[in-house]
Amino acid sequence: MFGLFSKRKRHSEQPISLASIAVDLHSHVLPGIDDGAQTLDESVQLIQALMQTGIQKIIATPHIMADYYKNTPATIHAALDKLQQHLASINLPIEIEAAAEHYYDEYFLELVKKERLILIQNKYALFEFSFANKPLNVINTIWQMVSNGITPVLAHPERYGYLTLPEVADLKERGCLMQLNTISLTGYYGKGVKDSAEKLVAAGVIDFISSDMHHTRHAEALQKALTEPVLKQLLDSNKLINASLL
Ligand SMILES: [Fe+2]
Repeated sequence: MFGLFSKRKRHSEQPISLASIAVDLHSHVLPGIDDGAQTLDESVQLIQALMQTGIQKIIATPHIMADYYKNTPATIHAALDKLQQHLASINLPIEIEAAAEHYYDEYFLELVKKERLILIQNKYALFEFSFANKPLNVINTIWQMVSNGITPVLAHPERYGYLTLPEVADLKERGCLMQLNTISLTGYYGKGVKDSAEKLVAAGVIDFISSDMHHTRHAEALQKALTEPVLKQLLDSNKLINASLL
């Protein structure tokens, strides 16, 4: 009997706390400006779910996609102001900042060129690729950002089926940091993504983890992620730099 159970991956009984990393830097909690929270009530639900994991500061990163969500500093700051006023009115003590998640399209390349990216703390550019097609000219784009003093951060590298581990390692060597979605470790996006997430963790190439929280299904998956042994391993490795954004 014991032999049978000991061969299985053990899940922690107690949920792991994210208090040591303290900052979630990828979420869609601003109300009504992308496919994340649509109302202030939904924003509050997602924020409370993050706070319950031990997160102290949330950086909201609404999508910027030329074809779908053409957010600007004005739309983002208006939504942030509205949310902050609401949080103050209901006495929910959480620090929230805003930046963006840039989609790698023509508009993104234009913003890189014009130095008009919306950055996390004036330094990090969070960006994502297409899930279907391998993007072109990535090395040059990363070079342009790094040359302008910006640190690129690739969102959820585990979710791009076409991206290999040597390619991830190469992007890192060129100055691009990697942000894993914590819920990828649960199999939320499928087994392939879970396997890829575990490989990236084992290779030691992950710099940040975050929720990429859009809705309550993500909040439930995040709760589940807190019992994943690989998450504990990643936190214990002391490689994550989320807390540098406190
Ligand atoms: Fe996202």
